[in-house]
Amino acid sequence: MLAKTDYRRIGVLTSGGDAPGMNAAIRGVAYSANHKGWEVVGIRSGFVGLVSGDFVPLGIRELSGIIQQGGTILKTSRFPGFMEQQNQDRALDNLTRQHIGAIVIIGGDGSLAGAYALAQHGFRVVGLGATIDNDVIGADLTIGVDTALNVAIEAIDRLKVTAASHDRAFLVEVMGRHSGYLALASGIAGGAEVIVVPEVETEPARVADELRRAYDHGHAHALVVVAEGSRHSAESLAQYFGKYGTSLGFELRVTKLGHVQRGGVPTVFDRLLGTRLGVASCNSLAVGETGVSLGVVGGSITATPLSETVSRKKPLDPELVKLPFVLAY
Ligand code: F6P
Repeated sequence: MLAKTDYRRIGVLTSGGDAPGMNAAIRGVAYSANHKGWEVVGIRSGFVGLVSGDFVPLGIRELSGIIQQGGTILKTSRFPGFMEQQNQDRALDNLTRQHIGAIVIIGGDGSLAGAYALAQHGFRVVGLGATIDNDVIGADLTIGVDTALNVAIEAIDRLKVTAASHDRAFLVEVMGRHSGYLALASGIAGGAEVIVVPEVETEPARVADELRRAYDHGHAHALVVVAEGSRHSAESLAQYFGKYGTSLGFELRVTKLGHVQRGGVPTVFDRLLGTRLGVASCNSLAVGETGVSLGVVGGSITATPLSETVSRKKPLDPELVKLPFVLAY
């Protein structure tokens, strides 16, 4: 932690995959900064804008009516090139030219790695975990997860209605290239027979067994929720069953929810979380805190050193991983 600091101007950017609630966080940062007498500069398109110098003022007009909007008014991008020294130098140069004394970076693990890189140069940075993947250390739930889950569960509930009418099983693919949280949580809440995640090996034969068992028990439908990044995708599982003529009882359909899950109107939970963390980021900066990411842990806003945040992905909660097995019959 550095000394207590008064800033004239701070910057804020969103980076990585957009997450519902990012706008609430931007708004929280901007209003809180305003209360402290600091100007706020928005940096467009994440680290791309930081390097190219795409800076915009964030005033009351830009912030009005954004709390209920999904996505991010600042736009976002994925920019692995930020880890190159020359791009970090350009970013620091732009920040100095703009008289920006600190920056709030809102995004997932890749974005927080960019935040850490800036912090290592001695620049004052606070990160806020925002990703629908919920794989960031130091946050029980990252900004955006709750909305994505609600979108997924609405789709799952609808699919179960049509599945029951036709005696079908559905393989539903949800997002999560490296993280099974969305699949696990939506699968449990949706009453799935099987949940397939990247973190746990699940053979096609086990999926087939569970579907067959549901059929033999007289279920009118069955559901498998598969995370995008699992070794066997929803499509490949369906192809496997087709190829080997696996008897499931049910007719099978595949639905891929894809980016629909990221585009939702933020839930109350995500609006509150984004607002709380946005405001907290300015409070942290005001007391000289830097090089940390903020998240809510056990109900309280908690700061985690970015060195820790970037060292590993948050693993799945073992209690949640066990639940589907307890619920199987
Ligand atoms: O933001 C996280 C995430 O939605 C992952 O769940 C998904 O694998 C990935 O982003 C998709 O990224 P993109 O939008 O760049 O295709």
